[in-house]
Amino acid sequence: MKTIAVLTSGGDSPGMNAAIRAVVRVGIRSGLKVVGIERGYCGLIDGTFKEMTFASVAGITEKGGTILRTSRCGEFYTPEGRAKAAEQLKKAKIDGLVVIGGEGSLTGAKILHEEYGIPIVGIPGTIDNDIAETDMCVGVDTCLNTVVDAIQKLKDTATSHERAFIVEVMGRESGYIALMAAIATGAEAAVIPEIPIDYDKLAARLLEERKRGKINCIIVVAEGAGGAINVAKNLQDKIGYETRISILGHIQRGGSPSAFDRLLATRMGAEAVKALLDGEKCVMIGLKMGKMVRVSLEKVIGRKKELDLSLYDLALILS
Ligand code: F6P
Repeated sequence: MKTIAVLTSGGDSPGMNAAIRAVVRVGIRSGLKVVGIERGYCGLIDGTFKEMTFASVAGITEKGGTILRTSRCGEFYTPEGRAKAAEQLKKAKIDGLVVIGGEGSLTGAKILHEEYGIPIVGIPGTIDNDIAETDMCVGVDTCLNTVVDAIQKLKDTATSHERAFIVEVMGRESGYIALMAAIATGAEAAVIPEIPIDYDKLAARLLEERKRGKINCIIVVAEGAGGAINVAKNLQDKIGYETRISILGHIQRGGSPSAFDRLLATRMGAEAVKALLDGEKCVMIGLKMGKMVRVSLEKVIGRKKELDLSLYDLALILS
C-alpha cells in the first residue's frame, strides 16, 4: 500500500478535522502518500484531490466543521456516479480509502468496495450517534454539550416567565440526543421516536408538577418524533399555560470539538490507517468499552443502533 485517500461525507460533525489530521500524520509517518478528497463523494467523482502534508493539517484539531468540506452527493447513489469515482481512484493510484461520515456515507463506502474492490475503512462521524457497533460517534459529545448549554439558557427564561419550552433537537430517526440532553438538563420529558408518547398522561404530570410549585418546564423533542411544533399542538391546550418552541437546528453541528471528540477522532483516524496497512478490506473503526475495534461494515450497515431505553425510565424517575 503506497497511497491512501481520506474524505468527509454527509452532515459534518465536530471532531472530523482531528480525524483527518490523524489519518494524514499517521499515514505520512507510516511511509504513505495521503490524498485529501474535497467535498465528499462529489469531489471523489470530480477528482478534486490534493496531496496532504504534515503542515496542511496543522492547528485543525480544535476547529469545527471539516477542512476537506463535505456534501450529500446524489450522483454517488447511481452506478454511473460510482463508476466515475472508481475511475478517479484508479487514475490517482489510490490503494485505500478512509471515509469519515454517517450511515449513508458508510453505506456508500461499502457499495464502492463491493463493486470495485477498493479497500475501505470507515470512521463513524455524525452527531446522531445512530451507528451500530460503536458506543460513540465523532461529534456526539460536542453536540450534546451545545444542546445542554442551549437548554440551560432556555431554562433561565422559562423560569422568569413561568413558561414551558419545547426544544427540538436533531438526530434523524434516533432519540439519542434528545434523551441524553433531557437527562443532563433535568428536563421534564423527552419525546423520542423509540417510545410512543401519551399526551394526556404527560399533560396530567406537567399540571401536577405545576400544582406542586414547579414554575418552569422543559420538554426535549427529537426531530424524528414529529418535531416541536407537533408536540406543542398536542400539549398546549391540555396544559393551558404559555409554551414557546425552540428549534436548535444546525448550531448542534458546529463549534470547537470537546476534548472527548478530539481524542476519539484522533484514535479512530490512527486506527483507520493501521487497519488499511494490516490489509483490512471493508471495516469501520468503532469504540467499544473504551477500546478501538474494527468491525466489518457488513455488520454495521442496515442495522439500527439500539438506544438504551432503561435511560428513558431513569429520565422519568428523575423528572
Ligand atoms: O445526520 C446529521 C444531521 O444533522 C441530522 O441530525 C439531521 O436530520 C440532518 O443531518 C440535517 O441534514 P442537513 O444539514 O443536510 O439539513
